[in-house]
Amino acid sequence: MTPLLSARGLHKRWRQGWWRPAETVGLAGVDLELFPGEVVGLIGESGSGKTTLARAALGLSALDAGTVSIHGIDPHKNRRLIPPLAQLLFQDAGASLNPGLTVRAILEESARYFPGTESVETVLERLDLKPRAHARPSELSGGERRRVTLGQVWLANPLLLVADEPTAGLDASRKGEIIDLLLSRRSPERGFLLISHDLPLVLYACQRLLVMQAGRIIDGFPTRELFAPQRHPWTQKLCINAGLEPTCS
Ligand SMILES: Nc1ncnc2c1ncn2[C@@H]1O[C@H](COP(=O)(O)OP(=O)(O)O)[C@@H](O)[C@H]1O
Ligand SMILES: [Mg+2]
Repeated sequence: MTPLLSARGLHKRWRQGWWRPAETVGLAGVDLELFPGEVVGLIGESGSGKTTLARAALGLSALDAGTVSIHGIDPHKNRRLIPPLAQLLFQDAGASLNPGLTVRAILEESARYFPGTESVETVLERLDLKPRAHARPSELSGGERRRVTLGQVWLANPLLLVADEPTAGLDASRKGEIIDLLLSRRSPERGFLLISHDLPLVLYACQRLLVMQAGRIIDGFPTRELFAPQRHPWTQKLCINAGLEPTCS
């Protein structure tokens, strides 16, 4: 099967200033494949490079080295062909919304950009945003802002959705709601890369997990093998930190 997303040898680093030789490493040689129908979780501590990888994989920030292919298209060479194929749900849901527009106007703008998918009315209905259709982003709760960004992505109807910490800052019940809304779009053609440092959440949502540390993917396995003895020590540490232990069956 052809991967929906394929990344090879991704490297990214930043100079901390021309006067200083020190560099910050974002990606230190990342290989990644995601197939149609998959929901893959990308976990790792803060600063491990998850957001850098998400942005680089969608062609939103330049790479020092490496190649990416989304449904056979290189996002770094053909960025304008990517939006209908792949979308990034940004970590900071509030910041990506136009503060001057109402919820309905924000979604209508997306619908104009991606004609022929669902209607704005349907999306407002399904995301339970109808009562808030006339509100502006500053008047919305964190969960409502997430649902608006999800609505924008639904209207784009991409094959690949990369969701960067989609539940950050939400309470437990709202987290589940957002993840269930995301997963409600699963299909054999679509793929999801769910980025989170919330291990229980990715365990619930994903069939396969990738673990990042210091710009590298150091472990990758089917979710059911999280507690297998061959897991990388860092993966085991993430489990312990999250208070997770294997359950007896
Ligand atoms: N624009 C930037 N300039 C310099 N360093 C950056 C930039 N963006 C990210 N970094 C650094 O790259 C590393 C990975 O960051 P990030 O991808 O945001 O991690 P994560 O999403 O896993 O928390 C961190 O050390 C971060 O400080
Ligand atoms: Mg991040």
